[in-house]
Amino acid sequence: MDAFHRILSRRELPEVDLTKGRSIAYSRTTTSRIMEVLDANGHGNVHGGVIMRMVDEAAAIVAIKHSQRPVVTVRVDRFDFLAPAYIGNVLYIYSALDYVGRSSMEVRVEVNTEDLITGEVRHVASSQLIFVALDANGKPTPVPPLEPADDAELAIIERALRRRERAKKIEAELKDL
Ligand SMILES: CC(C)(COP(=O)(O)OP(=O)(O)OC[C@H]1O[C@@H](n2cnc3c(N)ncnc32)[C@H](O)[C@@H]1OP(=O)(O)O)[C@@H](O)C(=O)NCCC(=O)NCCS
Repeated sequence: MDAFHRILSRRELPEVDLTKGRSIAYSRTTTSRIMEVLDANGHGNVHGGVIMRMVDEAAAIVAIKHSQRPVVTVRVDRFDFLAPAYIGNVLYIYSALDYVGRSSMEVRVEVNTEDLITGEVRHVASSQLIFVALDANGKPTPVPPLEPADDAELAIIERALRRRERAKKIEAELKDL
């Protein structure tokens, strides 16, 4: 038995009502951790790989909460490092759903740091990741729809839909190159 099935066999997956949508607010989350010396790269700043791992974990929490299923990362659409993060800063990772398909979920992530001594807050990274929910056999499984709670959530979902349509067109064009 592989690790995935060993973890799954510890508990039954609950029934999920796929007719009931869930809002963006239902699953959005902020995680935080203080950056330590072991998180450093050769320049003495926070290693980009540390941030990438934390982003993947934080975004997975959102996808698992929405779907009530184990998930896997299937794609990292963007990962922009905007500014360095420093040892001693607190890293805040805000993650929220943008779009939900049949079994896939797109999560938007914003990473900020805070210097707790001076209070300075900086936006250091942004990312967009896609997860797929899995059933007990490790196969893609349907998830509840994303139902906007208000106009602001509706605007986020509509923007994500437009972005996905555009991305599909660009991918099709790139295939022909
Ligand atoms: C995720 C996985 C099970 C999907 O298998 P698959 O045979 O491609 O499944 P499907 O074709 O039925 O696609 C399932 C969903 O994933 C989406 N998907 C699959 N590959 C994708 C990709 N590269 N980018 C974006 N979405 C993708 C499909 O669009 C579909 O979405 P929908 O159900 O919302 O319409 C398989 O690709 C896999 O195991 N990948 C490795 C995951 C992994 O190990 N991640 C790293 C550690 S977490």
